[in-house]
Amino acid sequence: MSAYENDYPDHTRTPGYTHGDEPPCNRSANPTLYDVIDARASRRGILVGGLATAVGGLFGAGAAAPAKAQAKPLLGFKAITVSEADSVVVPEGYRVQVLAPWGTPISGTMPAFRAGANSGAEQGMQVGMHHDGIHFFPIGGSSTDGLVAMNHEYVEARFLHATWRGKEMRESGVRVENDRRDADEVLKEINAHGVSVFRARRGATGDWEVVQDPRNRRITAATPMTFSGPVRGSRHVVTKYSPDGTRTRGTINNCAHGNTPWNTYMTAEENWAGYFRNTDRQDQKPNHPREHARYGVATERSRYAWELAASGADEFVRFDASTRGAGPAEDYRNEPNGFGWMVEIDPFDPNSVPVKRTHLGRFAHEGVVFAPAVPGKPVVCYSGDDARFEYIYKFVSARPYDPATASGALLDEGTLYAAKFNADGTGEWLALAPGHNGLTPANGFADLADILVNTRLAADRAGATKLDRPEWGTVDPRTGEVYFALTNNTSRTEAQVDPVNPRARNQFGQIVRWTESRGEHAATTFRWDLFVVAGDVGTSRGANGRALAADSIFACPDGLWFDAEGRLWIQTDMGESEMNRGDLKPMGNNQMLAADPRTGEIRRFLVGPKGQEITGVITTPDGRTMFVNVQHPGATTSPADFAAGKYVSNWPDGGAAVPRSATLVITRADGGVIGA
Ligand code: FEO
Ligand code: CA
Ligand code: CA
Repeated sequence: MSAYENDYPDHTRTPGYTHGDEPPCNRSANPTLYDVIDARASRRGILVGGLATAVGGLFGAGAAAPAKAQAKPLLGFKAITVSEADSVVVPEGYRVQVLAPWGTPISGTMPAFRAGANSGAEQGMQVGMHHDGIHFFPIGGSSTDGLVAMNHEYVEARFLHATWRGKEMRESGVRVENDRRDADEVLKEINAHGVSVFRARRGATGDWEVVQDPRNRRITAATPMTFSGPVRGSRHVVTKYSPDGTRTRGTINNCAHGNTPWNTYMTAEENWAGYFRNTDRQDQKPNHPREHARYGVATERSRYAWELAASGADEFVRFDASTRGAGPAEDYRNEPNGFGWMVEIDPFDPNSVPVKRTHLGRFAHEGVVFAPAVPGKPVVCYSGDDARFEYIYKFVSARPYDPATASGALLDEGTLYAAKFNADGTGEWLALAPGHNGLTPANGFADLADILVNTRLAADRAGATKLDRPEWGTVDPRTGEVYFALTNNTSRTEAQVDPVNPRARNQFGQIVRWTESRGEHAATTFRWDLFVVAGDVGTSRGANGRALAADSIFACPDGLWFDAEGRLWIQTDMGESEMNRGDLKPMGNNQMLAADPRTGEIRRFLVGPKGQEITGVITTPDGRTMFVNVQHPGATTSPADFAAGKYVSNWPDGGAAVPRSATLVITRADGGVIGA
């Protein structure tokens, strides 16, 4: 291990850690989805003994509709094969252009990208790193001109700083010397996080370009933000920066996103806990309050050690949540409580202050998906907590939707629920509200703000069902069914293995779906089934009851999105340490597939370059241009190869270039609708 490599004992070194995961923190006795599946299958008289057998009994019994004759098939492209190439592969007749790679100038003085050599301040005027959730906001309803908003989930610091080249650096390593970090490197990492908003327009040649525009902006891990909803002004978010508990700085680890019915952008704070440390100890053991412990705040040094910036400036010191002052207004013991929220951004107002909407709960938000808003009915949205054995949540607004007046204020008053999946295919939404489901002062939940800051503990207490890392959700525009990706859970025990379809650990993931009672998204009960159990030809089960074929095998569903015509787009995130090897070898590089939920047919549409994940997808309103993000190409580069300047991927610039996350612009040569 190089002296330049950060060897602090972070949670990513813990046994069983999977890339992109937070440390398992759920020690409650609530059942897992597998317990539920097995119990349900048992009650139905199906041979119990493993997942695939049990799952086989579920298909056709739940919400799955039998294939019906269709006038026009939803999927009109020819499936592509798996690929391990360092390139983007799409079906015949499709065209791919790269837009807005990391470092593209968008605002301020428009500093040109200089691979690894831009200053921290320059990075704050350029597209960030590690593109994730993305949305296209048409300007004037256009399908050729709009504002793109996109997340930057995290950074690979070794590619961010050219001065680290030639050193043995691992993917997540940072350079610490004498327990200090270079302050401008820290600023650059902070500015490479957050959200980019920029105008994009199709030019005369058909290629899209980033356009300089007054609305272009970077929101970073340092941008001032406010809290709204029940936690605003509460004791939980009092800090030296905001003694009245109304403000904080920045958003971090922004994974998936959401688009509100009033056309704003919501960015999720996913694996934020490790960005903070709390070194408080008692009897030589870490001594964390529950709002740190249940989320996995680091005990020694944070993920990127931003708190060690040599300048000692307040904006960096705040990542150390250790108790130092006489009270919470004199230190940053509460700083981590300002994270784990959904953050609302108005992309059309560059001066708007992002708002953390606290009533949507505090956890490892993957994103948020809104049910179609209906005038006169509550606004409803769903959000998954992506960590092993965590939950799916739903928020129902107290006030009805009125298109004339709707705003983010609708998200400040309502009820947050956690999902309980019953063994008989029914489900319940458990209210996380004072006096409900044991959430009382006597049980340690003082009030609504206390419940929301400790959302995971509240869901534990309410009895929600532990799931296999809930990632993106999406709502079928034609049926109202809600789909969620459960990406994997390598902690599944041997006792749950099916000897016929051996899955010693759930490496492959599945997609669950449900229908709310009476078709009302605000309902408190639902019916669920599994849409697909991912895997290779021997371990999977598709919605048509058959195993997936070569054209459709995949693992680790993550991004999910229904387009306007009802195609379900499925994106994969096989972790860096697992992809292209072992049981995941048959799947090749991370990819995107399209499914017809009516027939269960799935076809592979796109495969990305080496070392990346495919995440984030949206089309223009006409469905003829699709934007897809490629995140962390080359992340599988070993420390030795990094030192030698040999990167696993040189995408998209080619040659010996450092790899860059970027957006793909996908069109059809004949100008048709993508996927049709
Ligand atoms: Fe950032 Fe759960 O993927
Ligand atoms: Ca994800
Ligand atoms: Ca993921």
